[in-house]
Amino acid sequence: MSRGETVNIGMLGMGTVGGGVAEIIERSGEALADKTGIGIELRRVLVRDLSRSRAVSLPPQTLTTDPDAVIKDPSIDIVVELMGGIEPARTLISAALQEKKSVVTANKDLMARHGRELSRLAHRHGREIYYEASVGGGIPLIRPLRRCLVANQIERMVGIINGTTNYILTRMSLEGMDFEDALKKARDLGFAEADPTNDLEGMDAAYKLTILAGLAFNCALSPDDFSIEGISGVTGADIFYARELGYTIKLLATAGQKPAGLALGVYPALVPLSHPLATVHDEFNAIFITGDLTGDLMFYGRGAGARPTAGAVVADIVEAVCSLRGIGGAGLPPGMERKITPLPPAALSSRFYVRLLAGDRPGVFGTLATAFGEEGVSLDMIIQKRKANGTAEIVLVTHDVNEERFYRSLEKVIQLPAIEPGPGVFRVLG
Ligand code: NAP
Ligand code: HSE
Repeated sequence: MSRGETVNIGMLGMGTVGGGVAEIIERSGEALADKTGIGIELRRVLVRDLSRSRAVSLPPQTLTTDPDAVIKDPSIDIVVELMGGIEPARTLISAALQEKKSVVTANKDLMARHGRELSRLAHRHGREIYYEASVGGGIPLIRPLRRCLVANQIERMVGIINGTTNYILTRMSLEGMDFEDALKKARDLGFAEADPTNDLEGMDAAYKLTILAGLAFNCALSPDDFSIEGISGVTGADIFYARELGYTIKLLATAGQKPAGLALGVYPALVPLSHPLATVHDEFNAIFITGDLTGDLMFYGRGAGARPTAGAVVADIVEAVCSLRGIGGAGLPPGMERKITPLPPAALSSRFYVRLLAGDRPGVFGTLATAFGEEGVSLDMIIQKRKANGTAEIVLVTHDVNEERFYRSLEKVIQLPAIEPGPGVFRVLG
C-alpha cells in the first residue's frame, strides 16, 4: 500500500463498540493515517433499526439493513463484525470470508464456539480473522499470546476477564451498592452484553478463557468442558465477611498445566486484599500469565467499554490492511522520522518531597516557608522531628508546582543560614 492510500471497510453493527469505531475513524482518522500510512473509510454499516440515533451521524446511504450491501460490495476489503451473538454473525462472517474479505470481530461467543471453523475458512480463501477485541477490551492479549510469548511454555494463567461482574462486585464492595443498581450502571456504561445473563453467570468469562487458554496451551477447548460459576450467589454479607477476614471477592478465570492435564475454571473466589488482583476495580481486567521463559507477566487495563474496545478493533483493522497489502509490521514507523524537542523544566510541573536539616531555633520555619512562598511554592504537608545537637529534621511535600520555580525556591532555601547542606529532594507521583 502506498502512503495516503485508503481502505474501505464495512461494519456489521453500530452499537456501543461499533459507535466507538466510527468515532475513532471520524475524529482520529488523519492522525491514524499519519502513524500507519493507512486511511480508513467506513463505506457501509449494517444495523437493525435505521431510525435509531448513532454515536456518529453517517451519510444516509452508509447505513443499511441489507447484509449483502456490506458483504458483496466489491470496494470493501475488510468486514468488521460488531453485532454479537452466534447468529446471524457466524453466517455473515462466513459469507464475507467467501467473498475474500478479511474479517475483524470482537465476538468472543462466536470465536470460542466457532473460531477454528472460521479460521480454517479464512485460510481456505487466503484471508484472516482478527479478534483482539474479543478478550480484555483494550488490553492487548491475543497478539502477545500468539506472537510475543510464542517461545514460552505457558504454565498458568489467572485473571479477571469480565468487566461487568468486576464493576458490580467493586461497587458492592466499596460502596455497599445494591446488586441491581450496580448492574444497571454497568449496562448504562455499555459494559454489559445485550443480555447480561452471560456476564453474570460466568459464560462471558468462560468464552474468553476458552480463547485465551486455547492460544496459551495450543489446544482445542470448549466452554462446555470446564466448570463455570457466576456471581449470582455472591451476597453483600459474603463481601462483608470476606473483607473482615482480609479478602475481597472476584470472579476469576483460571487455567493451569497440572501433571495430570489442563485445569480450567471460572468461579467467584476470595482474593487476599494484598494480592494485585484485589486492586483491580470497576470494568478493569487483569490477567497473570506465567511462562517458563518470562516468568510472571501481568496485563491490566480496561476490559470493556466503547473506547478501549473500539481501539483494539481499529488496531486489528490496521493489522488486516498491512497483511492484505504485504506491509511488514517491523521497523520504525514513518512518524518517527519527525524530530521533536522534549519540553524544558520551565514547562513541567510536579509535587516535590524535601527533607532538610535545620538549626532548631526560633523563626527557622518562618524563613523556610517565606522562601518557598516567594516563588509561589505552596506546601501541602510538613513534619518536624527533633534531632540531636540542636538540629531539627524538616520534611515537607509541596503542592503541584512549576519545576523551574521549585528549584529556584530550593536554591534560596539552602542558602538560609540555619539550613544545613544536602537536602533530600524527590518528585511525588500523582
Ligand atoms: P450492541 O451495543 O448491542 O450493538 C450491536 C449492534 O449490532 C447494534 O448496532 C445492532 O443494530 C446491530 N445488530 C444486532 N443484531 C443485528 C441483526 N440481526 N441485523 C443487523 N444489525 C444487528 O453491542 P456491543 O456492546 O457494541 O457489542 C458488540 C460486540 O462486541 C459483541 O460481540 C460484544 O460481546 C463485543 N464486545 C463488547 C464490549 C463492550 O464493552 N460493549 C467489549 C468487548 C467486546 P441496532 O443498533 O440497529 O439495534
Ligand atoms: N460484557 C463484557 C464484559 C464486555 O463485561 O467484560 C467485554 O467483553
